[in-house]
Amino acid sequence: RLRGVVALDGPSGTGKSTVSRRLAAELGAAYLDTGAMYRAVTLAVLRAEVDTGDPAEVTRVARAARLTMGTDPLAPAVLLDDEGVEQQIRGPEVTGAVSAVSAVAEVRELLVATQRELIAGALEEPGGVVVEGRDIGTVVAPEAGLKVYLTASSDARALRRTKQDSSEGRDGDLGSTHADVVRRDALDSGRKVAPLRRADDAMELDTTELDVAGVVEQLNKLVESRD
Ligand code: C5P
Repeated sequence: RLRGVVALDGPSGTGKSTVSRRLAAELGAAYLDTGAMYRAVTLAVLRAEVDTGDPAEVTRVARAARLTMGTDPLAPAVLLDDEGVEQQIRGPEVTGAVSAVSAVAEVRELLVATQRELIAGALEEPGGVVVEGRDIGTVVAPEAGLKVYLTASSDARALRRTKQDSSEGRDGDLGSTHADVVRRDALDSGRKVAPLRRADDAMELDTTELDVAGVVEQLNKLVESRD
């Protein structure tokens, strides 16, 4: 078991990113947002004006894209060919296309290899690493010392996403965000390669009734009680 790795998986809108970053900061750990990697590749695909339904073309763009991921939980940088794209990867175009891009087997192979390298690099430092995504506990780091699967009702997840979007200056209404959340989860859970699912040995944490501080508190307890 890799004691220093905390794997956090689950669908969108469970507060995963916010709580992962906060947990990493409190633990003095590094942080890796694997969703940001799939989003950055998707941005490259959209910029190349390639059909997201064409796996060979998507793979070609993914191979050519140079991705640099920062692992500081307080300022997680995402560079695509040396350009900071932290904002661009959160827009509706990328959000709408990312599930198609992340379903391409070669894209996953490429990014999973990079993710494992980043995790190995982070483990050279004290403090460990908090990794968030959809397949961390099942595929990327099945040997993680702690695996948590976050869930929440789809209503709660849509509400959080809507609030987050408006606080970050993106518009969007609850109805369309709810539809997007449900659609993306269905695509992520239904894909052939590395579908979203709870690892058999992951702890499940339902965040529907919890605020950020409440979730982080539960996670800290799980970290303390591991092994
Ligand atoms: O976590 P986030 O919402 O930023 O992830 C964006 C998308 O990236 C997900 O909807 C999913 O399609 C993909 N993803 C994935 N595997 C991961 C992380 C994200 O397929 N480990």
